[in-house]
Amino acid sequence: MTKIGLYPGTFDPITVGHMDIIKRALSIVDKLVVAVALDTNKKPLFGIEERAALIKADIKAALPPSDLARVEVKTFSGLLMKFAESEKAAVIIRGLRAISDFEYEVQMACLNLKLNSEIQTIFLPASENTQFISSRFIKEISRLGGDISCFVSKNTEKELTKLFAKEAI
Ligand code: COA
Repeated sequence: MTKIGLYPGTFDPITVGHMDIIKRALSIVDKLVVAVALDTNKKPLFGIEERAALIKADIKAALPPSDLARVEVKTFSGLLMKFAESEKAAVIIRGLRAISDFEYEVQMACLNLKLNSEIQTIFLPASENTQFISSRFIKEISRLGGDISCFVSKNTEKELTKLFAKEAI
């Protein structure tokens, strides 16, 4: 049976940290759905379709065709677990950075398990070189004119720069 994994997030925007998790998740599941959430406790800078488009462009550029064929990028609204059920996901994948992520992530995983005890959450520790990355700080650095080229793809960097240039007018 095909094991489907769901990797949910706000992805505002996707970073090299998220991409690292996508690549590693593909060694665990047969198919991965990257699920971009509309209902998040953040106020995203990019619209939901823009966030999904940035992910699609990044995975196309970064993954070999055999892996690319196993990834889908979808948007969803409402409860994550309802969406996971509709996608027939066996597992939810989440990246864990520093200890600071732990409390929030475990709380979310436990609540999600209460909603559906058949879908487990798997945590993948962020790689050493992406531990400190956060979409929020990347946006701040970009807005203030700093170099973000080692945190996001060239395409995402271009879109962020464009957005902040428009804001400055
Ligand atoms: N390396 C580096 N950085 C990483 C990373 C990694 N491997 N994984 C995550 N991050 C960073 C992101 O850049 C982001 O930074 P920011 O907080 O500065 O923006 C942060 O960690 C987490 O963002 P993201 O991965 O996009 O996920 P999220 O925590 O915003 O996602 C949802 C939350 C979407 C999963 C959650 O709100 C949800 O499930 N919503 C649907 C509604 C629902 O079901 N609610 C009930 C939940 S119990």
